[in-house]
Amino acid sequence: MATPTLDKAEKSGKGAPEPGFADSPYIKVTFRIRRFNPEVSEDAQWQDFELEIDPKERVLDALHKIKWDQDGTLTFRRSCAHGICGSDAMRINGKNRLACKTLIKDINPHKPITVEAIKGLTVLKDLIVDMDPFFQAYRDVMPFLITKGNEPTRERLQSAEDRERFDDTTKCILCAACTSSCPVFWNDGQYFGPAAIVNAHRFIFDSRDEGGEQRLEILNDKDGVWRCRTTFNCTDACPRGIEVTKAIQEVKRALITRRY
Ligand code: SF4
Ligand code: FES
Repeated sequence: MATPTLDKAEKSGKGAPEPGFADSPYIKVTFRIRRFNPEVSEDAQWQDFELEIDPKERVLDALHKIKWDQDGTLTFRRSCAHGICGSDAMRINGKNRLACKTLIKDINPHKPITVEAIKGLTVLKDLIVDMDPFFQAYRDVMPFLITKGNEPTRERLQSAEDRERFDDTTKCILCAACTSSCPVFWNDGQYFGPAAIVNAHRFIFDSRDEGGEQRLEILNDKDGVWRCRTTFNCTDACPRGIEVTKAIQEVKRALITRRY
């Protein structure tokens, strides 16, 4: 049997991959972030940041690297980093997404990746918007169980079929990706918006709840469900996969038929 031999380059080490770099997953990515600081300027402006980063990391990781290593003034919200708290919804490459659920490799890292605040709510600084109008609409639909009569002595029972009726809308994490992707909401901040309707749906279709009529009347308002133009932006934007437009349609139907 022939004895294997090393060629000259292999012997000298030249041409051989350097340890630790041959399989480096890191690539250079440009993040183009819309910055706004009312203490500095009335106008927002785009700023580029270049990063060496593994494209399997998430946009939230990139924002952290930029904040920690390049510009500590970059401002954004985040908490759980795992798609649960709903605090890091932003427009990434023109689409509403959660930064913690968006892998860099999935959004073409070979071109600058744009990151900006969600639309329709007042920008306070960089990627942070004023969420008060959003949460006010949520509170307005009374997102809690309403019952009449005395407290029961045991739990309120519900069949599996009845529970299934509103299962989809229980998944909402109040991230505002749907509401801030809605053209009706952009044009008129008075509209309740998809998220509030989703959360009204969650209780209207709960067989244990007795506040459905009240909620329907609230959403029968000129700024309620009839403003929806069924553009499906909200369904496309929802990081929880909730069929937002379908939920809005079901609330509209319940208003007409009064059956829910
Ligand atoms: S319905 Fe979806 S997009 Fe809208 S607030 Fe809830 S989780 Fe976010
Ligand atoms: S940080 Fe909590 S959902 Fe993204």
